[in-house]
Amino acid sequence: MPRARPFTDPGLHNLRATLTVRDMIRIIELFAGEKTMGKKIAFSGIQPSGELHIGNYLGAIRSWIDLLDKYDCIFCIVDYHAVTAPYEPSELARRTYEAAVVYIASGLDPDRCTIFVQSDVPEHTELQWLLGTVTPLGDLFRMTQYKEKAKEVKTRQSVCSGLLCYPILQAADILLYKAEAVPVGEDQAQHLELTREIARHFNRRFGTIFPEPRTLLSEAKRILGVDGERKMSKSLGNHLGLTEPPEAIWEKLRTAKTDPARIRRNDPGDPERCNIYTYHTFFTPKEERIKCAEGCRTAAIGCVDCKKVLFKHLMQTLDPIRERFNELVKQKDYINGVLDAGRDRCREIARATMEEVRGAMGIRRLH
Ligand code: TYM
Repeated sequence: MPRARPFTDPGLHNLRATLTVRDMIRIIELFAGEKTMGKKIAFSGIQPSGELHIGNYLGAIRSWIDLLDKYDCIFCIVDYHAVTAPYEPSELARRTYEAAVVYIASGLDPDRCTIFVQSDVPEHTELQWLLGTVTPLGDLFRMTQYKEKAKEVKTRQSVCSGLLCYPILQAADILLYKAEAVPVGEDQAQHLELTREIARHFNRRFGTIFPEPRTLLSEAKRILGVDGERKMSKSLGNHLGLTEPPEAIWEKLRTAKTDPARIRRNDPGDPERCNIYTYHTFFTPKEERIKCAEGCRTAAIGCVDCKKVLFKHLMQTLDPIRERFNELVKQKDYINGVLDAGRDRCREIARATMEEVRGAMGIRRLH
């Protein structure tokens, strides 16, 4: 082994301090640790099952950004969850990569949080198996998301057990890191209730290992799609993509549902019953928003005028994300470097938790 070459810091030279490279690495590690030291862990994830949309942004990513200073944040791209629904294998790797790029382009600074891919840390599925031994089947069958997804699948094929066990894997994601806070949109609240339940079952049976994570509901609990009826979702095709070209976004907005009372241009409407107005509340500054609301109530403006105002402000948020995305997506080494670092850190935490879990469950070799 070659000896570490001495590294002399000019500032410390007078003190005759000569540091080895190894000393320097240790110091850097200590400083890096300080950023997360004493902070509770927040964990969340998104499935790379399609283009990320403004529902994901408002319901998840934007609220994650607000947590960066307060928590030690770990954000995952949950590819093992994505394969529980019909998907195209040749597209999955690209979608996973692009989800990571969107995370960063949207403002998740990799220097202030950990970003990684679920399948890079095999302990997720290992813990899922073990948590499955304390999860009652009845609890899984009553999950709303399972019932909805199972209905969609049933017409085409039989429902697979992966769909049923999906929430156990989600619990494993969270409990593996002993996360104490999980920022999500409303649709995930039931899964988090089950996660706490699973943690309680496990702790009661094997001793307290897992904290019960809190659900942090985003301000935008449930963003509807451009159909104005159902939750915005990749699979329903009613979404506004975070990195879609402006013309495509405008086309979807132009034809999006508004207050049904506004059939003709001079029919007055009610902004409270208009999904476009809900979008305004997240993107349009208050003054202009009030003007739009008044214009709608008095029929002084038409729906297209109102949508144009929204489009302008929506683009003020989406333009920089799309531009950063287009720039970053080409930087494969950088993105993969972020994901490698995330994987390494998560594996370390995951390995330690699994050792504890196996120990508590008596899973060990007899010597
Ligand atoms: P997924 O991929 O469906 O959604 C990711 C996040 O985006 C939020 N979201 C929405 N919020 C408001 N309005 C919408 N229309 C909307 N659509 C999506 C979701 O609430 C979620 O926060 N099971 C999870 C992924 C997951 C996970 C985890 C989350 C796996 N393991 C551990 C937290 C912790 C899911 O399907 O998300």
